[in-house]
Amino acid sequence: MAPTGNISLTALAEKNAFHQKFIRDEDERPKVAYNQFSNDIPVISLAGINENGGDRAEMCRKIIAACEDWGIFQVIDHGIETKLMNSMTRLAREFFDLPAQEKLKFDMSGGKKGGFIVSSHLQGEVVQDWREIVTYFSYPIKARDYTRWPNKPEGWRAVTEAYSEQLMDLGCKLLEVLSEGMGLEKDALSKACVEMDQKVVVNFYPKCPQPNLTLGLKRHTDPGTITLLLQDQVGGLQATRDGGKTWITVQPVELAFVVNLGDHGHYLSNGRFKNADHQAVVNSNCSRLSIATFQNPAPNAIVYPLGIKDGEKPIMEEPITFSEMYKRKMNKDLELSRLKKLAK
Ligand code: SIN
Ligand code: FE2
Repeated sequence: MAPTGNISLTALAEKNAFHQKFIRDEDERPKVAYNQFSNDIPVISLAGINENGGDRAEMCRKIIAACEDWGIFQVIDHGIETKLMNSMTRLAREFFDLPAQEKLKFDMSGGKKGGFIVSSHLQGEVVQDWREIVTYFSYPIKARDYTRWPNKPEGWRAVTEAYSEQLMDLGCKLLEVLSEGMGLEKDALSKACVEMDQKVVVNFYPKCPQPNLTLGLKRHTDPGTITLLLQDQVGGLQATRDGGKTWITVQPVELAFVVNLGDHGHYLSNGRFKNADHQAVVNSNCSRLSIATFQNPAPNAIVYPLGIKDGEKPIMEEPITFSEMYKRKMNKDLELSRLKKLAK
C-alpha cells in the first residue's frame, strides 16, 4: 500500500495502488455492486410543472409519494438545457484531468465563503472517501469571487453561471410542489428558506483497485432542503429506505436529475418526507463523475416543522437556525467516526 498525500488520489489510482485510510469497517462496505441497477426509485416527468390541472396534479401526487416513500426520485423533462448539462460534465471532467499540482493551486480549504475547494477527501474524517471533489458556493452569482476560482478549463465559469440559474429555477419549482403537497401555500418552503442558497459539489471517483473495501462517498443524508444530482451513466449512487438493511443502486437515466430530500426538507415536513440515506460506491473498471447541486436555506433560516396541526407532535424539540443544525450534524458525524475508531 502506498502512502497518500491530500490530492494524489488520481495518481494513486493510476498506479493501481490503495491505502489503509480508505478501508471501511465491514458493516459499512458496499453490499451491492455499482452496476447492479434497480428501477425502484420513481422516474417522474416534469412536463406539466408549469401548467394547472390534470397532468400537474398527477405529477405532484407522484412526487409527494416518492418523498414519503424514499425521499429520492429522478426527474426527466425538467427543462434544463441538454447542451448545458453536457458542457457541465465535460468541463468538470477536463478539470479533474488536469495534473495534480495544477488542481492543487485552487485548494482553498478553510477559506472564506465564495472560494473554491479542491480536495480528495472530507476534512477531519478518520476513514477517507475514494473521491476528489471541487466545491463552490454558486448562488447568488454576484457573490462569487472569481479571483479565487480556477481559470481552467476555459469557459467553465460561464457554464457554471448558466447552470446555477437554471437549477435554482428548477429547485424553486420543486419546492412549490412540496409546499402544496404539505397542504401549504406554494411559497411556504421558499419563504422558510428566507433566501435560497446554492452550493455545488462536483465529485470525481477515480477507478479503484479495491472497490469492495471502500466507498466513494460514505453513507449520509444531505443537510439542506433538496439536492439535484447529475450523474453519468456509470452508476454508483445507492439509496436505502430501511435504515441500511437493503441498498439499491440507482439506475442512471440519461439527462435525468436525481432529486433527494435533505434534513431541512425532512424537518419542515415534520418527518413526513424522508431525508434519503445514500452513499456512492466505486469500481475498478472506470472513473465516475457526479455533480450535486444543494438547494439550502439561508444560514439564519429557522428550522422547525411547518403547518403543525392540533395534537400533532413536532419532531424537533426547539426551533434552531440552519447554521446551528448544520454544526450539530457535523459535530455528531465526526464524533461518531472518532468513537468508532476508538472502539477498535
Ligand atoms: C452526493 O451524495 O452528493 C453524491 C452522490 C453520488 O455521487 O452519486
Ligand atoms: Fe449526498
